[in-house]
Amino acid sequence: MPALLDAIHAEVSEAVPHGAPAGYIPALAGVDATRFGIAVADIDGTVTGVGDWETPFSLQSISKVFTLAMVLARDEESLWDRVGKEPSGNPFNSLVQLENEAGIPRNPFINAGAMVTTDHLASIVGDAAAELLTFLRAESGNLAVRVDTEVRDSEVTQSDRNLALAHFMASYGNMRNPVATVADQYVRQCAIMMSCRDIALSGLFLARHGMRADGSRLLSRSQAKRLNAIMLTCGTYDAAGEFAYRVGVPAKSGVGGGILAVIPGRCTICVWSPGLDTHGNSVRGVAALDRFTTLTGWSVF
Ligand code: DON
Repeated sequence: MPALLDAIHAEVSEAVPHGAPAGYIPALAGVDATRFGIAVADIDGTVTGVGDWETPFSLQSISKVFTLAMVLARDEESLWDRVGKEPSGNPFNSLVQLENEAGIPRNPFINAGAMVTTDHLASIVGDAAAELLTFLRAESGNLAVRVDTEVRDSEVTQSDRNLALAHFMASYGNMRNPVATVADQYVRQCAIMMSCRDIALSGLFLARHGMRADGSRLLSRSQAKRLNAIMLTCGTYDAAGEFAYRVGVPAKSGVGGGILAVIPGRCTICVWSPGLDTHGNSVRGVAALDRFTTLTGWSVF
């Protein structure tokens, strides 16, 4: 595995331009675009990495996988009255579909759907972001996992679109807590800092059919399958079809430049390179995952 990761890191660094980080969140725009890390966590918890695999970066939308898992573990059925399970075919922060679909977001990974999921979790646990932090620290074994308040504050200055989405859903009765509460928890969960190592370990329950690091069950086997299915169809937004075609595994991207990918029964892979394509997915991250599944022959197909 180390030689394979070294080869992929070298090949992608050479062949694929790194691109530019997310511009709309000021604190992310300044991240060094040349950073590039890959970590693979085996289902037994062994992690192998290359490059910047131990450097913390902004989790952003990868957090949406964990929020959804927290809700599925506690109250699966009633969530699906409030959010769909279909690919959006639209950008992650689009407003247009919501009116046509009466305030029910297409899926839990676009921003509107993630805010509904955060709202749902907040009604159960109080502070969804704090619940997430506890879970991520336990699974990664890293107590230093934390919210970056600079990234949080920076995103708060650029929250008009997310607030519009949340208020719009509230007008349809699809927000149970005040919009300000949900927006605060949503932005904090996105601003969590973790490395490729931490994220690969935290996602292992998805490769272990629902089992946590301590051997307890978070999700049933069916729930883990469903969460992986939603990652495959919705995890990379309006590029999910192209991603499934090129890479062929469930994955979730974030505008921090990270992507968490899952090979059920085998391993998780987390890649990080801050430069994004027009869909908000890491350019080198997608390329590295493409090479990984091609060279290993591992995919869900
Ligand atoms: O709400 C936002 O726009 C960001 N905090 C998260 C967006 C994101 O990561 C989309 N993923 N590619």
